[in-house]
Amino acid sequence: MSLSRRAFFRNLGVDRTDSLSRDFLTSRGREALEMWRNGLSFEDDEARMQMPADAVLISSNENPLGPGPAAYQALLDGLDQQAGRYPTNFRPSHRELMQTIADKYDARPENVTLGTGSGEILENAAKAFTSPDRALVTADPSYLQARRVAERAGHPVRTVSLDANLRLDPESIAREANGAGLVFLCNPNNPSSTVMPASDVEALVAEVRRSSPDTHILIDEAYEDYVTDPAHQTAIPLALRTPNVFVARTFSKAYGMAGLRLGYGIGHADTIAVLAQWTHVFNSNNLANAAAVASLNDPQHLEQESARNKAARDYTIGVLSALGCQAADSQTNFLFVNVGRPAAEFRDACREHGVMVGRDFPPMEKTHARISIGTMDEMRRAAEVFRQVLA
Ligand SMILES: Cc1ncc(COP(=O)(O)O)c(C=O)c1O
Repeated sequence: MSLSRRAFFRNLGVDRTDSLSRDFLTSRGREALEMWRNGLSFEDDEARMQMPADAVLISSNENPLGPGPAAYQALLDGLDQQAGRYPTNFRPSHRELMQTIADKYDARPENVTLGTGSGEILENAAKAFTSPDRALVTADPSYLQARRVAERAGHPVRTVSLDANLRLDPESIAREANGAGLVFLCNPNNPSSTVMPASDVEALVAEVRRSSPDTHILIDEAYEDYVTDPAHQTAIPLALRTPNVFVARTFSKAYGMAGLRLGYGIGHADTIAVLAQWTHVFNSNNLANAAAVASLNDPQHLEQESARNKAARDYTIGVLSALGCQAADSQTNFLFVNVGRPAAEFRDACREHGVMVGRDFPPMEKTHARISIGTMDEMRRAAEVFRQVLA
């Protein structure tokens, strides 16, 4: 390790580079904090801070291992070299990151806008495309970040229930989309973990384009890299060829960079140009940019991460099913489980045993709990607790 890097870690109060990769980079527990900022609850974050150091934190859908080796090396190199430069003067620059993302999808940098996490893309979308007379349409329950921005601005929000299998319901969404400003499709959906198949997404987009041509459609694919159902595919090619349709992606989940805060929106250049007007000038940082380029050039690591997650996910589904608790068809790094009691009761009991699961997700908080997937070792420890608590 070079002297400058050692000094940096000493200043941070850590003396081993691998300490940096977990809580600092994955920012475990951050999603719960976000919920507090959005006026929902500070309870989870406070509770997390009180948990013992060896607690199993499976409340915020984070990657328990942090960034892959290529990204990690890029971070260390970036710290040593050019962290003092603005993103235009750093290599790779934010423009080079946009080019790398564009290349992955046969697109151009004009098709891409960066965000400080994909949450910024969601917020900018609500700012750009909803208004007092242009509603946001969203499933309920679904990810709340765009909805909170619309609500805070006093813009109308139309909600659509999930179907019996806790999937997004394309027909009801298309109906509600009429005259709306923005349709928010979270696919896979958080918290229900289910996917809408590619054929339904295409049919829904075609129907909205026909019946309400001025409506924009945002497809949030934060958990895309964890999907294993072949009926699901990314909507990025569809977005690139269809005006008013765009996709949000994040480096926070399978790429393990939640603490580095980087995401992007991708779609038709005309749509992206409108969205990009709402971003802060340097909204991505050098280290995140470098780690993202390294990760995008290391697709094999992503495959390994997806396989690792699937093994731990299958194991946990098996444990819960043996306890009589049915999980929705998870295509993500979390489960949405019918625990047959209020989520708060289940959560408090788990917390007593050093396991922290997700917050309440109204309107399903009386029966369903969200459990993120940690490492296999963490899920084995969590399974012991689930057996005691759910027996
Ligand atoms: C569905 C979904 N979209 C977007 C985000 C925002 O993630 P980030 O801002 O870290 O990219 C999250 C975070 O948990 C999420 O679950």
